[in-house]
Amino acid sequence: MPAPIRKAVFPVAGLGTRFLPATKAVPKEMLTVVDRPIIQYVVDEAREAGIEHFIFVTGRNKHVIADHFDMAFELEQTLRDRGKQEALDLLEEIRPAPGTASFTRQQEPLGLGHAVWCAREMIGNEPFAVLLPDVLVKAGRGCLGQMIDAYEKTGRNIIAVEEVPEDQTHHYGVIDIEGEGRNGLYEVRGMVEKPKPGTAPSNLIITGRYILQPEVFGFLENQETGAGGEIQLTDALLKLMETQGMSGLAFEGKTYDCGSKIGFLAANVAYALGRPDLGDEFRATLKDLLS
Ligand code: G1P
Repeated sequence: MPAPIRKAVFPVAGLGTRFLPATKAVPKEMLTVVDRPIIQYVVDEAREAGIEHFIFVTGRNKHVIADHFDMAFELEQTLRDRGKQEALDLLEEIRPAPGTASFTRQQEPLGLGHAVWCAREMIGNEPFAVLLPDVLVKAGRGCLGQMIDAYEKTGRNIIAVEEVPEDQTHHYGVIDIEGEGRNGLYEVRGMVEKPKPGTAPSNLIITGRYILQPEVFGFLENQETGAGGEIQLTDALLKLMETQGMSGLAFEGKTYDCGSKIGFLAANVAYALGRPDLGDEFRATLKDLLS
């Protein structure tokens, strides 16, 4: 059995300029899908996969993320006084146990690779997960849970991958694969971050979930900038692959890229339709709107 994946990193330092003015004072990770912030879905996915320690790499103006995962003492006392048990249970359910959420700041916006590297002291010398909060995956068993299942069988570095239309690949990291793939698991033989249109090695993109060995930190240290002038996680993974195997898991589930307005809107519709308490009424409202 490979070493368990106990810790997950959530890089939440991005400025969210695509969602201004909404993100002027509110972090993009706190924008709501139905009635909970985007980051909540991603943390829930990690918790369901068995993650025990949640590490947030934040930036300035992101303190409400820490507030969201803290106890809201006055609010909870008021709810208790008023006998609002359901609301209290909801808050308790989403709150990490004391001491299991940690926060560090990425002092400069130098890229995703740099953000992950900022978590190195908190991770230490053990394999870990990275979840990008822009990406929501709606699935039976959560995306990270599916990856951990694959990790437990293989002990390898694993990245979540999915097919996109060829004209979309330049927005993402794209993998090159060897052979056919078995049970949704592909042997990764290369990857490129934001390839120029028409040059991608495949149409399998990196979805924003990773299980990585701690050696990746050595490659992130003193790393040169790559695509977009940023320190890219993808470039460090390429180096990691020279000494360790890497698999791409084509997971089951539907992805919503909440970094784009259309993806964010689609997530709101899909998650609302899937909610037992809202789905039917919302479906009728949507039909009405579309008619
Ligand atoms: C990041 C990664 C990229 C991945 C994408 C998924 O890019 O660098 O490899 O495909 O997330 O959303 P970003 O969206 O931060 O530009």
